[in-house]
Amino acid sequence: MKYTVIIPAAGLGTRMGLGFNKVLLEINGEPVIKHTVRHFEEDPDCEAIHLAVRIEETAVMKELFSDSDKVSGIHAGGAERQDSIYNALVNVRGADYIFVHDGARPFLTNDVLSRLKRKVKETGAAICGVKTKDTLKRVVDGKVKETLRRDEVIAVHTPQAFDCSLLKQAYEHARQNKLEVTDDSMMVEALGKEVYLVESTYDNIKITTSEDLQLAHMILKGK
Ligand code: CTP
Ligand code: MG
Repeated sequence: MKYTVIIPAAGLGTRMGLGFNKVLLEINGEPVIKHTVRHFEEDPDCEAIHLAVRIEETAVMKELFSDSDKVSGIHAGGAERQDSIYNALVNVRGADYIFVHDGARPFLTNDVLSRLKRKVKETGAAICGVKTKDTLKRVVDGKVKETLRRDEVIAVHTPQAFDCSLLKQAYEHARQNKLEVTDDSMMVEALGKEVYLVESTYDNIKITTSEDLQLAHMILKGK
């Protein structure tokens, strides 16, 4: 199977508190975004890589990936993650499958990618995630409303993988209906389509707050 990947990297990294976009932070001598993109550079099934970046960072990103044949589009990001992805998505042509993967998630493994490829080929919509280690409760105004069944709850990661036409349809539908979403799967779910889960790894973290940086260094050391 062949696929195109869209990597949103146009955030501000506010929760990281660095004063600059966290995907440009160096870990092990290289920006986070370089680590992230490498997984797809090295995967023969990935045909093209599209990045969504902040307009102010376009030159830096172009420079970072100037030697890459696969990075075939660097697009302007938008206000929200889904706007950034949309700007890339409308420029993707001729792909059978699209994977969406956070620029801030540098520790993807080949096993997770393989599981996603197999599942998306079979079903058209596949996401990855891990079992939650904590008990999760729904809390409103400081009061517990419900305890979620732990065997039914998954912490969802990226990549998320879809049939190209399905993802495009889901994005158009979400925009028309002004859906507020936190991942790509939600838009596909809103069409009434089944989305299938495969196992991710606990190391596939999204670098979000400063604590994640220590974790990132430990994960790298372990590799
Ligand atoms: N992202 C994007 N465009 C946006 C917002 C986010 O492309 N308008 C990207 C980020 O660069 C990141 C991924 O989406 O790779 C996941 O988002 P998140 O972890 O929320 O990153 P930020 O939005 O940068 O961080 P914060 O929410 O703390 O500001
Ligand atoms: Mg954000």
